[in-house]
Amino acid sequence: MERPKRNEPLLLPPETVHAEATGDGSMTLRHPVLGDLYHSSRGAFGEAEHVYIRAGFDACSGPDVRVFEMGFGSGLNALLTLRRAGETGRRVEYHTVEFYPLAWETVERLGYVSPEDPFYEPFRNMHICPWKEETEIAPGFRIKKHDGELADTEPDAIFDVIYFDAFAPETQPDLWSETVFRKLFRHTAPGGVLVTYSAKGEVKRALRAAGYEVTRLPGALGKRHMVRAVRKTETSAR
Ligand SMILES: C[S@@+](CC[C@H](N)C(=O)[O-])C[C@H]1O[C@@H](n2cnc3c(N)ncnc32)[C@H](O)[C@@H]1O
Repeated sequence: MERPKRNEPLLLPPETVHAEATGDGSMTLRHPVLGDLYHSSRGAFGEAEHVYIRAGFDACSGPDVRVFEMGFGSGLNALLTLRRAGETGRRVEYHTVEFYPLAWETVERLGYVSPEDPFYEPFRNMHICPWKEETEIAPGFRIKKHDGELADTEPDAIFDVIYFDAFAPETQPDLWSETVFRKLFRHTAPGGVLVTYSAKGEVKRALRAAGYEVTRLPGALGKRHMVRAVRKTETSAR
C-alpha cells in the first residue's frame, strides 16, 4: 500500500492488515504501509500490561487519570486501561491519535475480547465511536480519538500519563524527535509521566532535551529496558 498524503488519515482495508501470534499467545497486527508489528513479538498483552499499565497508568495517583496515547491502533492499551480503571475504581479521560484507523472487523479478529466478555461492547464502542468527539464508552471512562498525524494534532488537555506507542525509532525517526517530545511535554501535568518501550540512546536524549527527567526501568518480557520520563513539578515548558 502507498503512504497517504500528509494530513489525510488512511483507513486500512481489513484484507491488507494481517494478524500474527506473539510469544505470550496474544495476537498482533502487521502494518501494511510501514511493515512493523503493532506490538512486541515477545507478547502483545505482556508488553502492553508491563509498559503502559504497570509503569504508566499505575504510577498515577488520584481518582481521575487523564491519558494521552500516541497510536491508538488495535486499542489494546485502551482496553487494558479500561480494565485497570475498573479494578482500581478510577475515572479516565483517554485521548488518542491515529493516522491509519483500523476497521472493527480487523480488530475483532485479534480475539482480545469475546462477545460474552463484559468488556466486549465498550471495546467495540471505542472503535466505532466518532472521531474528534468525547464519548463515554463505559461508566467513568471517556474517550476522544483524533484521526490524523501526531505532528498535526494539538491535544486539548493536560495529561497525567502519556503512552508513547509509535512504531520503532528506526521505522519512524521523526516521531521520536525532540520537537515531538517538546509538544508532549507541554501537555504533561507537573509530576506526570511519559512511558515507552524504547530505551534507545537518542530517544532518551530527545526526551531529556524536551525537559523530562528520564529513568530506565526493566523492559517487558525479558527485554532489558524501557523508559519512564517524568515532568518534574518544578520544571516549566520549554
Ligand atoms: C506500535 S503501533 C501502536 C499500537 C497500539 N497502541 C495498540 O494498542 O494496538 C503504532 C500506531 O501508530 C500509528 N501511527 C503511525 N504513524 C502515525 C502518525 N504519524 N500519527 C499518528 N499515528 C500514527 C500506527 O498506525 C499504529 O496504529
